[in-house]
Formats: sequence, structure tokens, C-alpha cells
Amino acid sequence: MLQIRRLMTVLGLAAGLGSAAVGAVEVATVIDTASPGVVIDRNIYGQFAEHLGRGIYEGIWVGPDSPIPNIRGYRTDVVNALKRLHVPVVRWPGGCFSEVYDWRDGIGPRDKRPVRTRMNWDDVTDSNQFGTHEFLDFAELIGADAYVSGNVGSMTPRDMQLWLEYMTADNGSTLAQERRRNGRDRPWTIRYFGIGNETWGCGGNMRPDYAADVNARYSAFVKAPKAMKMVRVASGASVQGGGDYLAFTEAMMAHRGETEALSFHYYAMPMGRPKGEALGFAEAEWADVLDLARAMEPMLVKVGGIMDRHDPQKSIPLFVDEWGSWYKLDRQALPGEHHFQQNSLRDAMVTALTLNIFHRHTDRVKMANIAQMVNVLQAMILTDGADMVLTPTYHVFDLYQRFAGAVPLPARTTTPDYAMAGRSMPMVDVSAARGADGRLHLALVNVDPHRPARVVTNLVGRAEGLLLTAATMDAHNSVAAPTAVAPRPVSVTRVGGRIAADLPPMAVAVLTVEIDRKDEK
Ligand code: AHR
Repeated sequence: MLQIRRLMTVLGLAAGLGSAAVGAVEVATVIDTASPGVVIDRNIYGQFAEHLGRGIYEGIWVGPDSPIPNIRGYRTDVVNALKRLHVPVVRWPGGCFSEVYDWRDGIGPRDKRPVRTRMNWDDVTDSNQFGTHEFLDFAELIGADAYVSGNVGSMTPRDMQLWLEYMTADNGSTLAQERRRNGRDRPWTIRYFGIGNETWGCGGNMRPDYAADVNARYSAFVKAPKAMKMVRVASGASVQGGGDYLAFTEAMMAHRGETEALSFHYYAMPMGRPKGEALGFAEAEWADVLDLARAMEPMLVKVGGIMDRHDPQKSIPLFVDEWGSWYKLDRQALPGEHHFQQNSLRDAMVTALTLNIFHRHTDRVKMANIAQMVNVLQAMILTDGADMVLTPTYHVFDLYQRFAGAVPLPARTTTPDYAMAGRSMPMVDVSAARGADGRLHLALVNVDPHRPARVVTNLVGRAEGLLLTAATMDAHNSVAAPTAVAPRPVSVTRVGGRIAADLPPMAVAVLTVEIDRKDEK
């Protein structure tokens, strides 16, 4: 009987069978429509594309002569999938790769470009077929802003400045002329420029004060035409950096030179113990990874507290320019497979929980870049030769598009906890926001793999929405089953006239509500 009830709920058949879906835990959420927060910057849905594994080559770039359908070398299927997401910003070329990257290797005729060893992650070579022109044209093609990461670890401030001049000068300088000869007449717009990456680690193993000095020094030379309003991003802390991430943040804020933003990295991965499997994991690992994802929020509060002391006006935004899940990399030994991992329903939950955290910290968090775009770590998209698969993570980003530019509203949620193997967290996580057109958007995450939830709001009106769920914790999409995890309509009902949504176990739902303003409670 229990199984039949569960199946009914999973299928959405239980809606309307009384005050709650059969077997569902009733969760109340009160949306405070009178207390709007700071607008959700669309850049928090940004992405990161590094020269790592098959992230760039095969994932994005196959070259104009490839039998795989492409647009001037960019694979058509991936470009179209990214266009549907309206990716706001892409960070490139690293990551640690940026700290060994010489921009000059990636300009000029492709058949003349040097082949280099990727020093940081593996000893596979990089053909440099994808360089400055290919990246910036790609960003334009998908309609995203460019966030370029410069090399402070192994190149000089002058190298960085010359790269910027090459990309952005609109005058008669030798570098602007060279760019024109290489096929790009107009300068590109570089909205964001990163001064190094993880300077505490792969960017040079620097101590906090030294890293701050280096950042301040480079920032003095990193210039683009003023009208471009380019934001220079100081490379910030990570709890996974081994050192004290708060001391690092403190040092970067105390002496930040001319930088206009600070970055932060956090991966949902265990520290000091082995990483888990991407698939085939036990429930304890489900709870572990979700709890690791949730752990970013208190870190953002602490980092934000330090920033508030140095910058009470909040003029320096925080960019979480690397985040996501990181599992045991079983294909790591294979050439070119570095950092590939499958992506399951659990990653959809990591995504939704993390985006909800960003929605709660919009006063400071103005950009985030999931690691990574294609074929690397928590990828949006996986490719296998000519085939492409959209991951559960992709679908959550798609569902959350309606939050971009919306104004967050506090949600007070009364929910039981989900507890497993020493981990405990609220069973249902809620994020709410008001769009420019006045409609409300709700993101509801049920992390419990066993219990369905009926989430009863305080809103009266009409609602529709989509839901992502599956029957198993590690359900995933593959070439053989590309839609095993795909959005479908969410079951919306009324409790005492108020809008309620029925969530199966382990589900992410996004609702859009048109409130009858007179009845709003
Ligand atoms: O995203 C993979 C790697 O993780 C990046 O290169 C580095 O910045 C981080 O440690």
C-alpha cells in the first residue's frame, strides 16, 4: 500500500485527495511580499569553461572541418543548448590553466599555433586551436559577457596589459593592428577580468599578504578603455585552499589595490576524507553531498562580514566564480578525460540549494560561475563524440531562468528535517522572488529521498510550474536515455484557498504565481 501511495504521489495523482497529498508531509511557507531584497543579478547563473579534459575541445570546439555539425568550429548542438539558457557570463581560460596560459599561443593562424603541455592538471597537450578570438567570438555567439582570467602566477603585469590592449584597443596601436590582421576589426568588450586564479594555490602558493600585494600591483597595470567599465576581479579565498580562508579574505580586502570585485571558490566535496562516487552511491552520500552544498551559506556570511567591515557601502561585489560538486574522478586516468564526472539528480539538488543560497545573499553575491560548462566536474552538458546530453544541472538552470533580475522575497518555511547518517537539514528549502512583471516565482527543493511534501504557501491566485525528479537518487541522462531526468509539470493544488504544490521525494520545483493582489495574505 505504501508503495502504491508513493507511486501516486510521484505521478502527481494524489493532488486534490483531501488536505494533503497521500502520505505527504505538509510544509508551510510564508512569503513576505512586503520586504523585497536586492535584485538577483543575472550573472549568478554564469558558467566557467576551462581548458581541462574535454571541456573546450569536443565540448565546445570541434573546428570548422569537423563532421560534427558546427558553426565556424563551435558545435551547433552545444551552442543552441547554451543559447536556450541565456548564459549571462562565461569565465575562461581557467582555473589553474589560466596560470600557465600565454595568450600569445592562442592568436594568429591556427596552423601556426604552438602545442603546449597543460602543466597544471595532466600532461596532455593543448593545441591552442581555441584561443582569444575563438573564446570571445563564442561568448558573442551565445550572447554571454566575457570574463577573462589573467595569469599572475607565471607572467608579468605587462603581459596582462598587452593582452588587454590586444583585445580592447580601438586605436592604431600595433596590437590593435595585429588583432585586425587576425580577423577582428572591432575591439571586444571585456566586462570582467580576473587577476589570477587561486593565488593561494595553483596561482603561485602565495601567503595572504603577499597575494594581496601581488593583486594590488597587477591591478595598477590592468587597464581597458574607461568606457568599457571593465571590472577587475581579485582572486579570493577558498576553504579548500588549505589555509585560513577568512585570513585570506581579510588580507585581500584590506589591501585590494584597484580591484573592483573579489572572488570566492567553494566545491561541494569532502575535505580530509575521500571523495565519493558520482553514481551508485548510498543514501549517506546523498545526504553528505547535499549538506556539503549547504555549507557554503555560513561561509558566505563570514566572508560577507569581513567585506562589510572594509566596504560597508557594499561597492565591492563577491563573485563565487567556481562552485559545484566534485566526485571521485574514475575516468581521470584516461587521456583527455580529466575531471569528467556523470551528473545525476543529486547534482540537480546541489544546484537548486546553491542557487537558493545565492538568492539569499544578493546584497553581496553578484556573480557565480558553475564549474563547469561542458564535460568537466558538475557539467551543464556532456558530449560523447557527436552526441550531446543535457544534464539534470542544465535543467535546473533552465527552470531558474525566471529568477534572473527578480527581487528576492523572504520565505519563512516551517519544515521537518531530513536526517541521515549524522547529517540533518531542512527537508524543504524555499526561495521566492518577484519578477519585473509582478509575478512571483518560487523554487521548492525537497531533499528527502523517501517522503513527498505538500508545500502550502500563503499566496492566493493562479500558479503553474515545472518539476525535476526521478525514481532513484543517481538517476541521470545519457546518450541511451537522454530524458531520464527532465522537467514535467508540477502538481498545483489549493489548501484553504492558498496555493500548494505537491513535491515527490527528491524533487526541485519552480512555480510562477499570479497573485490576486486583493486576496494576498
Ligand atoms: O575547476 C577545476 C579547478 O578547480 C580549477 O582549475 C581550479 O581553479 C580549482 O581548484
